[in-house]
Amino acid sequence: MDEVVALCKRRGLIFPASEIYGGIANTYDYGHYGVLLKNNVINAWWRAMIQERDDVVALDSAIIQHPRTWEASGHLAGFTDPLVQCLGKCKQRFREDHLREAQPEGELVCPVCGGELSEPRAFNLMFETTIGPVKEAGSTVYLRPETAQGIFLDFKTTLQYARRKPPFGIAQVGKSFRNEITPGNFIFRTLEFEQMEMEFFVPPAEAEKWHEYWMQARMDWYVSLGIDPERLKLRAHGPDELSHYSSATSDIEYLYPIGWSELEGIANRGDFDLKQHAEYSGEKLEYFDPETRERYIPHVIEPAAGVGRTMLALLCDAYDEDEIGGEKRTVLRLSPKVAPVKVAVLPLLRKDGHPEKATEIYHELRRQVSAEYDSGGHIGKRYRRQDEIGTPLAVTVDHQTLEDDTVTLRERDTLTQERVPVSELVDRVTDVTR
Ligand code: GAP
Repeated sequence: MDEVVALCKRRGLIFPASEIYGGIANTYDYGHYGVLLKNNVINAWWRAMIQERDDVVALDSAIIQHPRTWEASGHLAGFTDPLVQCLGKCKQRFREDHLREAQPEGELVCPVCGGELSEPRAFNLMFETTIGPVKEAGSTVYLRPETAQGIFLDFKTTLQYARRKPPFGIAQVGKSFRNEITPGNFIFRTLEFEQMEMEFFVPPAEAEKWHEYWMQARMDWYVSLGIDPERLKLRAHGPDELSHYSSATSDIEYLYPIGWSELEGIANRGDFDLKQHAEYSGEKLEYFDPETRERYIPHVIEPAAGVGRTMLALLCDAYDEDEIGGEKRTVLRLSPKVAPVKVAVLPLLRKDGHPEKATEIYHELRRQVSAEYDSGGHIGKRYRRQDEIGTPLAVTVDHQTLEDDTVTLRERDTLTQERVPVSELVDRVTDVTR
């Protein structure tokens, strides 16, 4: 993990937020290449959910919803972690369940100073704030801890305007917030994070079938992004692990450097949420099938993924070190689908017409794909820089280019360098990165 964290900082992908003030717990900023990578992950998710399907529609609901939302959803009463505090020297707070994993037997002690611990206290993870300038009764609202509830609130509206019938899904991507008390492992667990969630509404009798379907579909999606299938597995939750709303959940886990950990949860939420919101709001949240004349509350299958955790899995999976000519090289072997930059254009020299020709080629390529022009420093250094951000292809313009209109096309993983006519470049690059 340390190498990945260091690379992310060095190349400006992801770095601690508020650094000039010493940072703020579990919060990170995404720099230029981090934003490009993040957008590619989100776009790939939208593509799989919307563009390549006919049965899912998109939504972007508000982050701050009516506070009754969280009463109905069970988050106000039940979205808690058991918190213990060190009564010894260090006074730090920990999640009791996490400590128990590390200390499976006997009485728990503080993992930092060995001190005695307090009795566990239920600690709600929702961030509270107020609407209006004064904190008064009725003004308390919450930053959403999951995007899912916005989807349930808009179930009826979507059903009407989108003219869908179950099975159909509503997908959304957006920020969620949790007052996590455990120190995160880089971006694995942060206070604010982006979720990619889809609620798939199905006839009750089909729930199990669709649960199976989405588990496989979501595993396949990670593999399609280039993640090693050997480092992915499905793990079913035991009965004591299930969330309050779920009758069955399986996590897709990835073998992070911290061990097998959750990348995405795929839950069978049954009719819990629609029933709860129907009761609290007084609205009928059901489906009437005009063909069978049947009226029912659909059951919900929910693949819920995290953008940050997907990025972390991609980065850990892609991180590699090898040697070129006796020198160590750090390389991100990211799939061209998600690589922040698809092709770099490098003039060999900063004179003799190389920059002009390279700029011309760069302008042509960037109309098709994310491209970068780099003329700073020795050519070997520039290749290394691109290798470190995972750029799959590099085009070098040299004196021969000016004579016969060919360039060198270098491939990040195989390190092959091939002479290619400029007229074929766009096709060659888009073939690889599509
Ligand atoms: N709507 C269901 C739900 O929110 P979850 O398992 O709590 O389920 C879904 O969250 C996904 O969101 C997780 O698999 C993870 O990828 C991401 N996630 C959850 N909490 C996170 C946190 N504190 N930091 C980063 N990602 C988080």
